[in-house]
Amino acid sequence: MSKRIALFASGTGSNARVLIDRFREHPEDGVEVVLLVSNKSTAGALMMAAERGLPTLVVKRADWTEGKELLRALDALRVDLIVLAGFLWLIPAYLVQAYPNKIVNIHPALLPKYGGKGMYGRHVHEAVKAAGEVESGITIHYVDENYDEGSIIYQAAVRLDPEDTAEQIAERVLRLEHGNYWRVVYGL
Ligand code: GRF
Repeated sequence: MSKRIALFASGTGSNARVLIDRFREHPEDGVEVVLLVSNKSTAGALMMAAERGLPTLVVKRADWTEGKELLRALDALRVDLIVLAGFLWLIPAYLVQAYPNKIVNIHPALLPKYGGKGMYGRHVHEAVKAAGEVESGITIHYVDENYDEGSIIYQAAVRLDPEDTAEQIAERVLRLEHGNYWRVVYGL
């Protein structure tokens, strides 16, 4: 039986794009991305999804607190896995309860370090650089009601050079995300 995924993205959506394209090009994987949800009407991820003819949904703050429209959409599309790909709002309790162990996230660092509120995007890589870390990496984890705290499914590391800039770290980590997220999602 195939797995039906809703992607949640607030930004560029490069991870979302990799997942959509991978699973479209490989129907034998038995994974179908059926919806892209964003909290930001100007998100690049929404345009990318629309270009691919994928249904999209923009959630507003008011609906997010209760989630009626969102839950209805997820239910109507028979979504069985929610994949966060650069989604910045905290996932509310009703969603965690509606999809227990069925929501995953990717974080661009080796959790539990460099996670939590405010640790996203370049803030993560700048903190890694400032701390003089010799490695960074990615963490794919289940989502609970706190930022970046659910149980870890997969981690992969990259070695860092002292000369690496935060931008260079970001690029290498993002490449690692693109190579691994779909694989882990496929295996769930
Ligand atoms: C990624 O680095 C991901 O780890 C984090 O947000 C970023 C999203 O990038 N959660 P993109 O929008 O997929 O390009």
